[in-house]
Amino acid sequence: MRSSERSITPVREAKDWSPASWQTRPAVQQPRYPDAGELERALVKLAALPPLVTSWEVMNLRRQIADAQEGRSFLLQGGDCAESFDDCSSGLISNRLKVLLQMSLVLVHGLKLPVVRVGRFAGQYAKPRSADVETRGDVTLPCYRGDIVNGVDFTEAARRPDPQRLIEGHSHSALTMNFVRALIDGGFADLHHPEYWDLDWVRYSPLQNEYQRMVESIGDSLRFMETLHGAPIGSFSRVDFYTSHEALVLHYEQAQTRQVPRQWGWFNLSTHFPWIGMRTADVDGAHIEYCRGIRNPIGVKVGPSVKPEQLKRLLAVLNPDNEPGRLTLIHRMGADKIEQYLPALVEAVKSEGARVLWTCDPMHGNTESTNVGVKTRRFENIRGELDRAFDIHAACGSRLGGVHLELTGENVTECLGGARDLTETDLARAYRSTVDPRLNYEQSIELAMLIVRKQAGSAPVARSV
Ligand code: PEP
Ligand code: CO
Repeated sequence: MRSSERSITPVREAKDWSPASWQTRPAVQQPRYPDAGELERALVKLAALPPLVTSWEVMNLRRQIADAQEGRSFLLQGGDCAESFDDCSSGLISNRLKVLLQMSLVLVHGLKLPVVRVGRFAGQYAKPRSADVETRGDVTLPCYRGDIVNGVDFTEAARRPDPQRLIEGHSHSALTMNFVRALIDGGFADLHHPEYWDLDWVRYSPLQNEYQRMVESIGDSLRFMETLHGAPIGSFSRVDFYTSHEALVLHYEQAQTRQVPRQWGWFNLSTHFPWIGMRTADVDGAHIEYCRGIRNPIGVKVGPSVKPEQLKRLLAVLNPDNEPGRLTLIHRMGADKIEQYLPALVEAVKSEGARVLWTCDPMHGNTESTNVGVKTRRFENIRGELDRAFDIHAACGSRLGGVHLELTGENVTECLGGARDLTETDLARAYRSTVDPRLNYEQSIELAMLIVRKQAGSAPVARSV
């Protein structure tokens, strides 16, 4: 039976829950809007706008995540650390889609598994911050919390949390979503021929020959299948693509939480796959309270400070009936910490018999600053954390079922290393992120190839695009 035909039977509605019940819990990382009336008017408007996704798409993704939990597919989730309204433009969106699709082809081909593709986009506009305010000289202003809250410029006007931005966030998400859907429906021609891939960098890698063979082999497979079909094959054009963002600004999420005909319960229809960030994952906090009542698949970031007992409580609250496809745990430990902290958490999940999809975010535990204060990440650490994650899961009798990456389709220079061995001097050349450093196009494709290389030899289970 195909995964989409198997039923996922959610068991019951969450007790004592409503889309607003989070407001009774401590809500960290929320903007302080200076004018309650203005906020209320924006939320009424937002709640009346059409949703960005549908409940059946959400349930399809849940089925696909359930498959990944069983080892029948692999989840690729990636995109910007934060989208900005200014970056809502055709080139940036199509390049980001292109790199994710190309990575997914590398993974499908190499892992011999279907890949579930989820973008960190069409709504990734809010950022958790380590401090509520920022001080420069003798001026202190609210910190920048992402374009859906305030502006990045260090002025009083820009930093004022503005409820109109909630509506703008929704419109920019809709514009992005619309373009992504159109690109996918129209067939993203670049994908069919790896000669259109930007693979100059390959010759800088010690793995040049291996990469070259991989790319040729992907090209051969695609051409072979096209020959069989007598035309470009539809399944490459109409790939499933899902969206995700951090469910951070809870007023926004609440306003997009809907009931739909012929389905019970509530859906967050601003995205397919909301996740809870590390700083807001307190089991008694507002973010967990909000997420426990919606039927979307939920991701939770798991950092090195999480204790096994805490994780067990989280499983009980977010997935009391152990439903398949419901919960993805995204660990983000850091290359130097993962060996110390991950095994006990994997054991805790196993001891509960809990169904989860484990994925690794090798970005957020590996952020550092250069001597001149530029935020960066080393490709070697990103790769190292991922390698260790595969090994630790295998050693614990568990399985790493996906990756969560911050990346862009542009040739930015924000992370150090990779085949071209970007150095600190290179960071000055094309550093564009206002938040975290992202893998660029080349580093992203290289990482996908390294995942395949790492996994080569593990038993293939199924094969399809
Ligand atoms: C993020 O994914 O952008 C993020 C802030 O991650 P974390 O919550 O894991 O720190
Ligand atoms: Co980030």
